[in-house]
Amino acid sequence: MSSKRVLSGMRPTGKLHLGHVVGALSNWVKLQNEYECFHFIADWHALTSDYADTSRIRENRIEMMVDWLAAGLDPKKSVMFVQSAVPQHAELHLLLSMITPLGWLERVPTYKEQRDNITDKDLGNYGFLGYPVLQSADILMYKGNYVPVGEDQVPHVELTREICRRFNACYGEVFPEPQALLTPVPRLPGLDGRKMSKSYGNDISLSDTPEEITKKIKTMMTDPARKRRTDPGNPEVCPVFAYHKIYSPEETIQTVDRECRVAGIGCIDCKKWMSERLIESLSPLLQRRQEYATRTGEIKDIIADGNHRASAVASQTMDEVREVVKLS
Ligand code: TRP
Ligand code: SF4
Repeated sequence: MSSKRVLSGMRPTGKLHLGHVVGALSNWVKLQNEYECFHFIADWHALTSDYADTSRIRENRIEMMVDWLAAGLDPKKSVMFVQSAVPQHAELHLLLSMITPLGWLERVPTYKEQRDNITDKDLGNYGFLGYPVLQSADILMYKGNYVPVGEDQVPHVELTREICRRFNACYGEVFPEPQALLTPVPRLPGLDGRKMSKSYGNDISLSDTPEEITKKIKTMMTDPARKRRTDPGNPEVCPVFAYHKIYSPEETIQTVDRECRVAGIGCIDCKKWMSERLIESLSPLLQRRQEYATRTGEIKDIIADGNHRASAVASQTMDEVREVVKLS
């Protein structure tokens, strides 16, 4: 077990899907055996864009914790908590905001992208611009060394490093420079081949039953060149094959890779093999999820314990911070 710390968060925006498991959670589960891990539900971050409707935040937090536990995160190993339950994040965010030039924030690619692309919400608010400063506070609070994130979040970790250097230079060496830890798995496409996302309606949700999953896979996109059973295809452009590569044994992967190209197999069979393996590998998770979903009291206890452990670290960090900033 390394003494290095891992920290990561997720916004509680709704039910998790398979992309979250493959892209993030299975990696977190591995990391908890190697490092001291902190994982939190970033409910304040969800508010930066969803401030107008907060009606689901509370249930989303519980649901997210259920999904994390079902995926194998272990509260004995990882500290799992809720961001807003540790108000020190807000205090550190405020102090970091003093030393963060506006230009750094306006340059963040996700900021520009989302301002341009999200048109059904007004994102002209101060909190949305400050999103990555809050994220920096999250990371620095726990003196996180590694931050396991997807590629889209790397600029946020880079910005955190810049803010970290500036803080240390201004006030004294308090924080180690964090590093992004890119998830080492191929991205799992959605049912239509685009990035998996609930808002695209192309996801396999962790709340789907095995029957629903089988049904969804039957409608999944394949190589458009295979209009007829006799048309040869190219597995590399087919999302079904991307799933085979994650869930099927090597032998099946090779068979599909070979036979798809010569129209030796049909897509219906190919999908059937894949969905069987997917469901087999997912069923323990789906089962655990069902069990946890009825144990709300226990979930709340796990969150309360995580909040408590996170607060202890946060309060120690803030003592140091107030000391060097000469506020204590
Ligand atoms: N911005 C992250 C996302 O949207 C969530 C997040 C908030 C986060 N704070 C964090 C991730 C700190 C890593 C570290 O996915
Ligand atoms: Fe995709 Fe399989 Fe059909 Fe080839 S045979 S196009 S890999 S579903």
